[in-house]
Amino acid sequence: MTSTYAVLSEGLEKRFGEVRALRGLDLAVPEGSVCGILGPNGAGKTTAVRLLTTLLRPDAGSARVAGHDLVREAAAVRERISVTGQGTSIDEDLTGRQNLRLFGRLHRVRGPAGRTAELLDRFGLTEAADRPASTWSGGMRRRLDLAASLVRRPDVLFLDEPTTGLDPVSRTLIWDVVRGLTAEGTTVLLTTQYLEEADQLADDIALVDRGRVTHTGSPAQLKSLVGAHAEVVVPDTDTLARAAAVLDRLTGAQPSFDHERNAVGAVSKDPTLTIPLLVRALDTAGVPLLDVSLRPPTLDDVFLRLTETTPPETTGATGTTDEKERAA
Ligand SMILES: Nc1ncnc2c1ncn2[C@@H]1O[C@H](COP(=O)(O)OP(=O)(O)O)[C@@H](O)[C@H]1O
Ligand SMILES: [Mg+2]
Repeated sequence: MTSTYAVLSEGLEKRFGEVRALRGLDLAVPEGSVCGILGPNGAGKTTAVRLLTTLLRPDAGSARVAGHDLVREAAAVRERISVTGQGTSIDEDLTGRQNLRLFGRLHRVRGPAGRTAELLDRFGLTEAADRPASTWSGGMRRRLDLAASLVRRPDVLFLDEPTTGLDPVSRTLIWDVVRGLTAEGTTVLLTTQYLEEADQLADDIALVDRGRVTHTGSPAQLKSLVGAHAEVVVPDTDTLARAAAVLDRLTGAQPSFDHERNAVGAVSKDPTLTIPLLVRALDTAGVPLLDVSLRPPTLDDVFLRLTETTPPETTGATGTTDEKERAA
């Protein structure tokens, strides 16, 4: 029986000593879609990727990946997936082309030269292809890393923060490639800290906080969970606090201040909030106004709003250092 989910996990748990990195991770990623796992540093994103790519064994829970049981059929899972981690898996002494050919031979890809040339082209690396990777920029290496993970056309591709710290050119190229992959039937699971990235690429987003999925939905569905972002600009600092109190009452959200502009804003959960309503409430409270605005929520707003009731347990969580994920 073929499953319609490329990744289906239930109650995945992983503990590192005292740290419960995953506390029951449930994911359902339909075949041919892009799933964005969005969460702050330390949320458990990398741990999730390492479990789902068989690099780590779960302490509890189960998952099917690319149609196979993650633990009992780990070898079959490995055959069908690729992973690009935050570390780079390329050989610095080889040229870009040699690196890709090496991957092609390792995975017994037919016609490795053709596939290599195609991937170099797709990632904008043709010109530099015959120079050693050691001479390449960080962005080019990351692109090569991703190209390497595509040499053998995986059913499911896992990308752990593929564009963190990258220049805009590399980011855009990687986004374009990811968008193209689903057209070829590849399912993509990517982790990111960038809301914009999830918004741009993901069909569905799973918000992960402290080892659990707290919300799931399409970017539009998540945005509809919050009403709008309201902002009030007042003439002076004295009235700012009163404006904030009104906003607080109307939105039930923690207002945020922009002291330079004497502005205060808040993300409303209430979709019925309107400008007239805002103006009336502020007027009744005797708050003089320069400007009042309501704009549709961004994913940033959603994230703030949905996670504000659950502040991180510890501050300064460091997350894992870069790992040579493919080394395992
Ligand atoms: N190998 C490890 N040993 C100890 N703690 C770890 C290890 N890997 C991850 N952790 C901890 O597990 C939690 C989740 O980490 P991680 O999955 O790397 O989060 P993210 O990728 O979302 O930043 C963090 O608190 C991190 O410090
Ligand atoms: Mg990580």
